[in-house]
Amino acid sequence: MRIPDKVNVLLLGNGGRECAFAYAISKSTRLNKLFIAPGNAGTAKYGENVNISPVDFPFIGQFVCSNNINLVVVGPEDPLVKGIVDFFAEDDNLKCVPIIGPSKAAAALEGSKDFAKEFMIRNNVPTAKYFTVSENNIEEGKRFLSTLNAPFVLKADGLAAGKGVLIINDLQEAITELENMIIGKKFGTSSAKVVIEEFLSGIELSVFVATDGLHYKILAPAKDYKRINDADQGPNTGGMGSVSPVPFADKVFMDKVENTIIKPTVEGIAKENLDYKGFIFFGLINCAGEPKVIEYNVRMGDPETQSVLARLDSDIMDLFEGIVSKKLDKVNVVFSENTALTVVLASEGYPGSYPKGRVITGLDETENVIVYHSGTKLDKGVVVTSGGRVLAVTALANDIDSARAEVYGQIDKIKFEGVQFRHDIGLDLK
Ligand code: AMP
Ligand code: GLY
Repeated sequence: MRIPDKVNVLLLGNGGRECAFAYAISKSTRLNKLFIAPGNAGTAKYGENVNISPVDFPFIGQFVCSNNINLVVVGPEDPLVKGIVDFFAEDDNLKCVPIIGPSKAAAALEGSKDFAKEFMIRNNVPTAKYFTVSENNIEEGKRFLSTLNAPFVLKADGLAAGKGVLIINDLQEAITELENMIIGKKFGTSSAKVVIEEFLSGIELSVFVATDGLHYKILAPAKDYKRINDADQGPNTGGMGSVSPVPFADKVFMDKVENTIIKPTVEGIAKENLDYKGFIFFGLINCAGEPKVIEYNVRMGDPETQSVLARLDSDIMDLFEGIVSKKLDKVNVVFSENTALTVVLASEGYPGSYPKGRVITGLDETENVIVYHSGTKLDKGVVVTSGGRVLAVTALANDIDSARAEVYGQIDKIKFEGVQFRHDIGLDLK
């Protein structure tokens, strides 16, 4: 498949990741028109928001046909796991429209932890020891748990909005939670199966890769900051900040990641005939210099994309073209050597319940940073909060110190009642 010289793009999603995609796409010399469904107040600066849900496939299909869309870019996992790529492939009017994302079968790499673990074992990708439990083998699951050392890792097999992983110190409590997940349906049908894993200790990082199903391009490593408070305290969030590149992911480490993880994964995708034209997010852990996979995601990360794409110097449309034409090996993808650092501004109360509709001011007063929108909307022309993570402020600079100085020097100009953010993004990497 090919895309024309001038492209009409439909981007699906409404978060900070999609705002970062929208910004990069808007800079393409090959862009004709960008639509974002449904988008947010930030994406509206780079294209036209259209009020369509990313999982309303028939409506998306109609929109694609009536607006002469030449390329669909899928941001979040939900439409991918629900099969949007297959929906396009099976429709006579849509099958010629290139779409960035894996098929439903390939999206199970994120949609089913059990499938992902089996895939890793089949393809010799280093990962934690595991055992999958369902209603039929709970007793075996309990026995497996008792062979492990604390802490115990329990993962709901299916998507659980980032909440499906429990890390528990006490064996008895882990057994009770295993029952709660499977019998008590703690995460609904997502926890009908549970993957029990050996606990891996080390520093986590993410590596982002584009693939056409045959070739791959390593985009960049990035580090995410998951806890709400400084010094990794407090509850987990979707991510409160990110840095790319990651200093400890040096050449030796990245060579190991490429040879032991990325290559076997992409070869496995090809060997198993999984139709995959999109992004792979490798959630990794550095176990004493040896990388292991914690999880695959079949999309880019949020807020890692904000940092990764801030470093992209080449035209993103060329990357998309390489992916859909299966000629990714021929594409020159150029990243800045500089460091991108992103700090998320979140609503009061997040990651618990939070108010919406608070007025945001100062958005036009910042300098030398990109202010991506995550949970914002326009209310009668005024930008207001509409999500837990509201904005992501990104700077690109020579090193972590300068990027921190740029971001933290600008954040105070942006104001909304109850704003909270971490002050220590990047400090651990110096
Ligand atoms: P996941 O949804 O699989 O990314 O898991 C969420 C978080 O749980 C990860 O980012 C890790 O911090 C942690 N985690 C998951 N699996 C393991 C493991 N096997 N060992 C240690 N930590 C883990
Ligand atoms: N920041 C983690 C994720 O996007 O899943």
